[in-house]
Amino acid sequence: MTRTIIAANWKEHPVTMKDARRLFDATMRAAVASPQAEVLVCPPAIFLEELAARMPRGARNASLGAQDVFWEEEGAFTGSVGPRMLKAIGVRYVIIGHSERRRVFGETDAIVNKKVRAAYAGGLMPIVCVGEPPEVRRKGVAAARRHIAQQLARGLKDVFSRGSHESGARGIIVAYEPLWAIGSGKNDSPVDAAAMAAFITSSIKRPSAKVLYGGSVDSANVREYVQLKEIDGALVGGASLVAKEFAALIRRSLAK
Ligand code: PGA
Repeated sequence: MTRTIIAANWKEHPVTMKDARRLFDATMRAAVASPQAEVLVCPPAIFLEELAARMPRGARNASLGAQDVFWEEEGAFTGSVGPRMLKAIGVRYVIIGHSERRRVFGETDAIVNKKVRAAYAGGLMPIVCVGEPPEVRRKGVAAARRHIAQQLARGLKDVFSRGSHESGARGIIVAYEPLWAIGSGKNDSPVDAAAMAAFITSSIKRPSAKVLYGGSVDSANVREYVQLKEIDGALVGGASLVAKEFAALIRRSLAK
Protein backbone atom coordinates (compact mmCIF):
# COMPACT_ATOMS: atom_id res chain seq x y z
CA MET A 1 0.00 0.00 0.00
CA THR A 2 1.39 3.41 -0.87
CA ARG A 3 0.59 5.72 1.92
CA THR A 4 0.12 9.45 1.67
CA ILE A 5 3.10 11.11 3.36
CA ILE A 6 2.27 13.91 5.74
CA ALA A 7 5.46 15.49 7.07
CA ALA A 8 5.47 18.06 9.86
CA ASN A 9 8.28 20.60 9.85
CA TRP A 10 8.14 22.25 13.26
CA LYS A 11 11.05 24.60 12.43
CA GLU A 12 12.25 26.40 15.60
CA HIS A 13 9.10 25.61 17.60
CA PRO A 14 8.01 25.06 20.32
CA VAL A 15 10.29 26.59 22.95
CA THR A 16 9.82 24.04 25.73
CA MET A 17 10.05 20.26 25.97
CA LYS A 18 6.69 20.30 27.69
CA ASP A 19 4.99 21.87 24.69
CA ALA A 20 6.89 19.58 22.33
CA ARG A 21 5.62 16.54 24.23
CA ARG A 22 2.05 17.77 24.15
CA LEU A 23 2.10 18.48 20.42
CA PHE A 24 3.85 15.21 19.67
CA ASP A 25 1.43 13.11 21.70
CA ALA A 26 -1.56 14.68 19.98
CA THR A 27 0.09 14.17 16.60
CA MET A 28 0.76 10.52 17.39
CA ARG A 29 -2.89 10.00 18.37
CA ALA A 30 -3.90 11.42 15.01
CA ALA A 31 -1.36 9.20 13.24
CA VAL A 32 -2.59 6.05 14.97
CA ALA A 33 -6.15 6.93 13.97
CA SER A 34 -5.11 7.24 10.29
CA PRO A 35 -2.94 4.23 9.44
CA GLN A 36 -3.19 4.95 5.71
CA ALA A 37 -1.13 8.10 6.23
CA GLU A 38 2.64 8.00 6.76
CA VAL A 39 3.22 10.69 9.36
CA LEU A 40 6.73 12.15 9.74
CA VAL A 41 7.44 14.59 12.53
CA CYS A 42 10.53 16.78 12.26
CA PRO A 43 11.00 18.66 15.54
CA PRO A 44 14.04 20.70 16.65
CA ALA A 45 16.99 18.35 17.20
CA ILE A 46 17.03 18.84 20.95
CA PHE A 47 13.62 17.16 21.31
CA LEU A 48 14.31 14.17 19.09
CA GLU A 49 15.63 11.70 21.63
CA GLU A 50 12.86 12.16 24.13
CA LEU A 51 10.17 12.12 21.46
CA ALA A 52 11.63 8.94 19.97
CA ALA A 53 11.16 7.30 23.36
CA ARG A 54 7.53 8.50 23.45
CA MET A 55 6.61 7.06 20.08
CA PRO A 56 3.58 4.86 20.76
CA ARG A 57 3.98 1.18 19.87
CA GLY A 58 0.88 1.23 17.72
CA ALA A 59 2.21 4.06 15.57
CA ARG A 60 3.73 1.90 12.84
CA ASN A 61 2.95 4.61 10.32
CA ALA A 62 4.80 7.35 12.24
CA SER A 63 8.49 8.29 12.19
CA LEU A 64 10.80 11.04 13.28
CA GLY A 65 12.89 13.23 11.06
CA ALA A 66 15.57 15.83 11.73
CA GLN A 67 15.47 19.27 10.10
CA ASP A 68 19.11 19.24 9.13
CA VAL A 69 22.27 17.16 9.39
CA PHE A 70 25.97 17.84 9.03
CA TRP A 71 27.94 15.81 6.50
CA GLU A 72 30.73 14.66 8.79
CA GLU A 73 30.10 11.76 11.12
CA GLU A 74 32.12 13.27 13.96
CA GLY A 75 35.01 15.61 14.58
CA ALA A 76 35.95 19.20 15.38
CA PHE A 77 32.78 20.76 13.95
CA THR A 78 31.34 22.92 16.70
CA GLY A 79 27.56 22.98 16.77
CA SER A 80 27.05 20.08 14.37
CA VAL A 81 25.06 16.87 14.55
CA GLY A 82 26.00 13.95 12.30
CA PRO A 83 23.83 11.34 10.59
CA ARG A 84 24.80 8.43 12.79
CA MET A 85 23.99 10.38 15.94
CA LEU A 86 20.49 10.91 14.59
CA LYS A 87 20.11 7.34 13.42
CA ALA A 88 21.22 6.01 16.81
CA ILE A 89 18.33 7.70 18.61
CA GLY A 90 15.68 6.43 16.23
CA VAL A 91 15.53 9.15 13.57
CA ARG A 92 14.74 7.86 10.06
CA TYR A 93 14.39 10.93 7.87
CA VAL A 94 16.15 14.24 7.47
CA ILE A 95 15.06 17.43 5.73
CA ILE A 96 17.92 18.78 3.63
CA GLY A 97 18.18 22.13 1.85
CA HIS A 98 15.03 23.74 3.19
CA SER A 99 14.77 27.25 1.75
CA GLU A 100 15.27 28.72 5.22
CA ARG A 101 18.57 26.83 5.53
CA ARG A 102 19.56 28.12 2.11
CA ARG A 103 18.50 31.72 2.76
CA VAL A 104 19.39 32.22 6.43
CA PHE A 105 22.33 29.83 6.76
CA GLY A 106 23.81 30.21 3.30
CA GLU A 107 23.43 26.61 2.21
CA THR A 108 24.30 26.01 -1.40
CA ASP A 109 23.40 23.14 -3.71
CA ALA A 110 26.95 21.82 -3.16
CA ILE A 111 26.30 21.67 0.59
CA VAL A 112 22.95 20.01 -0.04
CA ASN A 113 24.78 17.40 -2.11
CA LYS A 114 27.24 16.62 0.70
CA LYS A 115 24.42 16.32 3.20
CA VAL A 116 22.36 14.04 0.96
CA ARG A 117 25.30 11.68 0.53
CA ALA A 118 26.03 11.75 4.25
CA ALA A 119 22.39 11.03 5.03
CA TYR A 120 22.41 7.91 2.84
CA ALA A 121 25.75 6.80 4.22
CA GLY A 122 24.36 7.16 7.74
CA GLY A 123 21.16 5.27 6.97
CA LEU A 124 18.78 8.24 6.88
CA MET A 125 16.25 8.96 4.15
CA PRO A 126 16.69 12.52 2.82
CA ILE A 127 13.79 14.85 2.15
CA VAL A 128 15.42 17.26 -0.28
CA CYS A 129 13.72 20.63 -0.60
CA VAL A 130 13.66 22.57 -3.84
CA GLY A 131 11.67 25.62 -4.89
CA GLU A 132 11.91 28.78 -6.90
CA PRO A 133 11.85 32.35 -5.53
CA PRO A 134 9.07 34.74 -6.60
CA GLU A 135 11.25 36.66 -9.06
CA VAL A 136 11.94 33.45 -10.97
CA ARG A 137 8.32 32.37 -10.97
CA ARG A 138 7.30 35.76 -12.34
CA LYS A 139 9.32 34.92 -15.44
CA GLY A 140 7.07 31.94 -16.03
CA VAL A 141 6.89 28.19 -15.63
CA ALA A 142 9.84 27.46 -17.93
CA ALA A 143 12.11 29.63 -15.78
CA ALA A 144 10.83 27.94 -12.62
CA ARG A 145 11.55 24.53 -14.14
CA ARG A 146 15.07 25.56 -15.07
CA HIS A 147 15.63 26.68 -11.48
CA ILE A 148 14.35 23.41 -10.05
CA ALA A 149 16.27 21.32 -12.59
CA GLN A 150 19.48 23.08 -11.57
CA GLN A 151 18.83 22.57 -7.86
CA LEU A 152 18.21 18.88 -8.48
CA ALA A 153 21.18 18.41 -10.80
CA ARG A 154 23.57 20.03 -8.32
CA GLY A 155 21.98 18.83 -5.10
CA LEU A 156 21.76 15.21 -6.27
CA LYS A 157 24.98 15.20 -8.31
CA ASP A 158 26.38 11.67 -8.55
CA VAL A 159 24.03 10.50 -5.80
CA PHE A 160 22.42 7.86 -7.97
CA SER A 161 25.30 7.24 -10.34
CA ARG A 162 26.63 3.75 -10.78
CA GLY A 163 29.12 2.85 -8.14
CA SER A 164 27.54 5.22 -5.67
CA HIS A 165 26.77 2.62 -3.07
CA GLU A 166 25.34 5.02 -0.48
CA SER A 167 21.99 5.56 -2.06
CA GLY A 168 21.83 1.95 -3.27
CA ALA A 169 18.35 0.96 -4.24
CA ARG A 170 16.84 3.34 -1.73
CA GLY A 171 14.31 5.91 -2.62
CA ILE A 172 14.35 9.63 -2.27
CA ILE A 173 11.82 12.20 -1.20
CA VAL A 174 11.82 15.62 -2.83
CA ALA A 175 9.70 18.41 -1.41
CA TYR A 176 8.66 21.03 -3.93
CA GLU A 177 8.23 24.22 -1.96
CA PRO A 178 7.99 27.41 -4.01
CA LEU A 179 9.49 30.11 -1.80
CA TRP A 180 6.61 32.52 -2.24
CA ALA A 181 4.20 29.88 -0.92
CA ILE A 182 6.05 29.12 2.33
CA GLY A 183 4.40 30.64 5.39
CA SER A 184 2.60 33.16 3.19
CA GLY A 185 -0.91 31.75 2.99
CA LYS A 186 -0.44 31.87 -0.81
CA ASN A 187 -0.35 28.17 -1.65
CA ASP A 188 0.53 27.15 -5.19
CA SER A 189 -2.38 25.95 -7.29
CA PRO A 190 -2.68 22.16 -7.02
CA VAL A 191 -2.56 21.81 -10.80
CA ASP A 192 0.68 23.81 -11.10
CA ALA A 193 2.20 21.96 -8.13
CA ALA A 194 1.31 18.62 -9.73
CA ALA A 195 2.89 19.68 -13.03
CA MET A 196 6.09 20.60 -11.20
CA ALA A 197 5.95 17.34 -9.24
CA ALA A 198 5.75 15.43 -12.54
CA PHE A 199 8.67 17.44 -13.86
CA ILE A 200 10.70 16.60 -10.73
CA THR A 201 9.87 12.89 -11.02
CA SER A 202 10.92 12.82 -14.66
CA SER A 203 14.14 14.73 -13.89
CA ILE A 204 15.21 12.34 -11.13
CA LYS A 205 14.40 9.17 -13.07
CA ARG A 206 14.04 7.05 -9.94
CA PRO A 207 10.93 4.87 -9.89
CA SER A 208 10.89 4.97 -6.10
CA ALA A 209 11.13 8.77 -5.84
CA LYS A 210 8.36 10.52 -3.98
CA VAL A 211 7.41 14.15 -4.35
CA LEU A 212 5.75 16.22 -1.67
CA TYR A 213 4.24 19.67 -2.06
CA GLY A 214 4.93 22.25 0.65
CA GLY A 215 3.90 25.87 1.11
CA SER A 216 0.85 26.99 3.09
CA VAL A 217 -0.72 23.54 3.21
CA ASP A 218 -3.53 23.31 5.76
CA SER A 219 -6.47 21.09 6.59
CA ALA A 220 -8.68 22.96 4.13
CA ASN A 221 -6.44 22.53 1.08
CA VAL A 222 -4.37 19.37 1.70
CA ARG A 223 -6.79 17.08 -0.08
CA GLU A 224 -6.58 19.10 -3.30
CA TYR A 225 -2.87 18.26 -3.51
CA VAL A 226 -2.64 14.69 -2.31
CA GLN A 227 -5.55 13.51 -4.42
CA LEU A 228 -3.47 14.26 -7.53
CA LYS A 229 -1.46 11.24 -8.63
CA GLU A 230 1.72 13.27 -9.20
CA ILE A 231 1.86 14.34 -5.52
CA ASP A 232 2.73 11.78 -2.84
CA GLY A 233 2.14 13.95 0.18
CA ALA A 234 2.72 17.28 1.88
CA LEU A 235 5.42 19.02 3.91
CA VAL A 236 3.63 21.16 6.44
CA GLY A 237 5.03 24.01 8.52
CA GLY A 238 2.63 26.34 10.33
CA ALA A 239 -0.36 23.99 10.28
CA SER A 240 1.67 21.23 12.00
CA LEU A 241 2.09 23.35 15.14
CA VAL A 242 -1.56 23.39 16.12
CA ALA A 243 -2.52 19.92 17.31
CA LYS A 244 -6.18 20.05 16.28
CA GLU A 245 -5.45 21.57 12.91
CA PHE A 246 -2.77 19.00 12.13
CA ALA A 247 -5.00 16.13 13.22
CA ALA A 248 -7.69 17.47 10.88
CA LEU A 249 -5.10 17.82 8.13
CA ILE A 250 -4.07 14.15 8.48
CA ARG A 251 -7.72 13.05 8.41
CA ARG A 252 -8.62 15.25 5.47
CA SER A 253 -5.62 14.09 3.47
CA LEU A 254 -7.29 10.69 3.31
CA ALA A 255 -10.86 11.80 2.67
CA LYS A 256 -12.44 10.34 -0.46
P1 PGA B 1 4.32 26.41 5.75
O1 PGA B 1 5.84 25.90 5.69
O2 PGA B 1 3.45 25.19 5.74
O3 PGA B 1 4.23 27.18 7.04
O4 PGA B 1 4.10 27.26 4.54
C1 PGA B 1 6.21 24.81 4.89
C2 PGA B 1 7.68 24.59 4.99
O5 PGA B 1 8.45 25.56 5.12
O6 PGA B 1 8.15 23.43 4.94
